[in-house]
Amino acid sequence: MSGTGNSYRTACWVKDRLSQRGFAAEIIPLEPCTGKLRRVGLLVLIFPTHAFTAPWPVLKFIAKLPRQDGTEALIIACRAGWTIGPWLMPGLEGTAGYLAALLLRMKGCRVRGVMGLDMPANWTAAHWGLNAGHVQSIITAARAKTEAFTDAILAREFRFRGMLPLFAGLLLVPISFIYLALGRFYLAKIFFASLRCTGCGLCARTCPHGGIVMRGKRPFWTLRCESCMRCMNYCPEQAIECSHPLIVLLHYATAFPAAAYALGLFGLRNANGLCLIVQYCYALLTLCLVYRIFHSIVGVSAINRLFFFTTMTPLFRRYHEPTTCIEDLTANNANTANNMISGTLGPRNY
Ligand SMILES: Cc1cc2nc3c(=O)[nH]c(=O)nc-3n(C[C@H](O)[C@H](O)[C@H](O)COP(=O)(O)O)c2cc1C
Ligand code: SF4
Ligand code: SF4
Repeated sequence: MSGTGNSYRTACWVKDRLSQRGFAAEIIPLEPCTGKLRRVGLLVLIFPTHAFTAPWPVLKFIAKLPRQDGTEALIIACRAGWTIGPWLMPGLEGTAGYLAALLLRMKGCRVRGVMGLDMPANWTAAHWGLNAGHVQSIITAARAKTEAFTDAILAREFRFRGMLPLFAGLLLVPISFIYLALGRFYLAKIFFASLRCTGCGLCARTCPHGGIVMRGKRPFWTLRCESCMRCMNYCPEQAIECSHPLIVLLHYATAFPAAAYALGLFGLRNANGLCLIVQYCYALLTLCLVYRIFHSIVGVSAINRLFFFTTMTPLFRRYHEPTTCIEDLTANNANTANNMISGTLGPRNY
């Protein structure tokens, strides 16, 4: 899975390394792959970290994977490398790698290694981005680390991350859980297209999760969006923004204690679990409703300008892995179905 090409580029490095050693390898994008993939010799799962854990599509992919009979697996969780002044700082993958490893283990895989890999930070909704020099240094270091990791696995070593990242990951589990259950839906609903948008539809066509539908000439973000940041960073007009005031508005709209009111009406007492369910459904419905209203008025140029000038993202740099174009990220999709059916890699052939 890759939003802005970091994980894709990492997969290319692994593939090249395997090819150099005489092994056949194939890159298969995760999203069209429904889990029917079978008979692979070495499964290398590469994905971005989202909120200190593996993104939902990765967890869904593993859940759909048929039971494996000792298939060997590697996991690379790409993180956000960033900078303070001249210093390069590591990202934090939390439970991303170990959770995927545990789930693959439960599916019958033999996990040979887990690695957290610093690639340039891509969350351009939340920060101002890195300059080209820092991007290049992070990528150069990441490539060397990926090649060393692949070589170690080919030399029949096991490579894990140790206990400290696992401990840090466990402390961050509540944040990851809230993100998976609710946070990602809020983030999906703060995107909007500015007046620069030409209505070309590229964002909708290339979203890996089918997260955008075009309503007339304007993109509309649905709850399928996983905030992978592809649309925002590959839009040719740099027209996609995230509204920070809108997230505050959404927070207040969804914080209304719907559960207490609804359950009070039915005379239910001590129904904590039920309260949560009612509140959860209310929050999702409210998100959708407020966003529909927002979308219907944000086409008006004065309102669009209001949201444009009250958010920070017009000031933030855009980012995608510098050598990865949008075609690279979408080209493999057509081949995926064949790969899934025929399983082009034989068992243990690496
Ligand atoms: C919504 C979101 C949440 C993220 N959370 C984390 C995080 O918790 N820790 C981290 O190190 N990086 C985090 N990142 C950064 C990405 O994992 C990182 O930049 C990755 O290399 C992107 O890979 P990709 O281009 O293949 O999607 C986050 C990015 C996004 C968009
Ligand atoms: S890619 Fe950019 S310009 Fe094209 S429809 Fe999407 S937001 Fe508008
Ligand atoms: S809508 Fe944009 S951010 Fe959301 S999943 Fe699709 S490409 Fe990624």
